[in-house]
Amino acid sequence: MRRDVGEREMAASEMIQELIRAHVEGNSERFRTVALQLAAREARNGHRLVAGRIRDLIDLPAPAPAGADSVAPTPLARPSEDLRGILSPSYPKQRLGEIVLVGDLVAVLPRLLTEHRSREVLDRFSLESRRRVLLHGPPGCGKTLAAGVIAGELGLPLLRVRIEMLFSRYLGQTAALLTAIFDEMHRVRGVYLFDEFDALGRQRFAANDVGEASRVVSTFLQLLDADDSGAVIVAATNSAGEIDGAAFRRFDDVAHVPLPPSEALADLLHRRTKGHRVPAAQLDDLASDLAGLSFAEADRLVTEALKTTVLDGRKRLTVADLRAAAEEVKARSEQCSA
Ligand SMILES: Nc1ncnc2c1ncn2[C@@H]1O[C@H](COP(=O)(O)OP(=O)(O)OP(=O)(O)O)[C@@H](O)[C@H]1O
Ligand SMILES: [Mg+2]
Repeated sequence: MRRDVGEREMAASEMIQELIRAHVEGNSERFRTVALQLAAREARNGHRLVAGRIRDLIDLPAPAPAGADSVAPTPLARPSEDLRGILSPSYPKQRLGEIVLVGDLVAVLPRLLTEHRSREVLDRFSLESRRRVLLHGPPGCGKTLAAGVIAGELGLPLLRVRIEMLFSRYLGQTAALLTAIFDEMHRVRGVYLFDEFDALGRQRFAANDVGEASRVVSTFLQLLDADDSGAVIVAATNSAGEIDGAAFRRFDDVAHVPLPPSEALADLLHRRTKGHRVPAAQLDDLASDLAGLSFAEADRLVTEALKTTVLDGRKRLTVADLRAAAEEVKARSEQCSA
């Protein structure tokens, strides 16, 4: 129960809790009032310097609105009691410059960010901004990273929905919990990531209780349809084939995130080896020999090569280090796909 804290003077500990609550709820007016009360209290206790500092902090100009180069501080996300363990919050700081865009992401990701940033303008014209996206493609090509970048760019928390938990620990309550997650979207603004989304569809066939599984899928689709929370919803899967055709239609965008072409791998190699002065042409040549590798594998290859450099006591990475690591990573990749 929330106490009426206005009637008497709050203890310092209560003020701190009230400040945090105001921050979490995004209630800047309340935040300011409590902070001023805290300053007054410090002044009364003879701590004039502290009181002055608090007032100065309150009078600082508000942060600039989120734009291409600035991101508002990410609000804290605190999932409700019954969703802890199912929704795991994080606060990614990733930016657009950290992801090499491939496939449909090239158009879809920047457009989603632009529309979200302009959602109030669109709203004035009764136009809804894009905010439901389904990403599909092979592992390690940036689906989860893309969700992090959306959160980082928009200054929103990322709430990963642990779909596997919905089915294992809470079997029988899955549809009710999905409803609770969509309710939560109204309470906690954020990017909601349904990773390994195909698990929802797969259960339709695999679960012992077929009734429950198909109820879950149709509940999800109805919730997606009815959702007017403004939350960004990202669903990611390796196997789009297992997803209901009906689900596809509910998303504003369905983006294929394929294995990277060699120019995209070259882009990643250039970014990751910056400062080591490996000739660009050598990196481009290497990238053209890496066809079939994912970004995650190319990324690992650079990390391995950097380790070799450090362990050899050298300051600079060479293309020979990269090539040696590439051979290992390629061999492992072939083993895995055999
Ligand atoms: N497009 C990309 N640009 C830059 N780095 C990338 C990209 N894609 C993947 N990586 C690197 O690979 C790591 C793993 O990628 P990510 O988790 O996004 O893959 P995924 O598509 O979600 O894979 P999975 O299907 O296995 O969940 C990232 O943390 C990042 O280091
Ligand atoms: Mg992923």
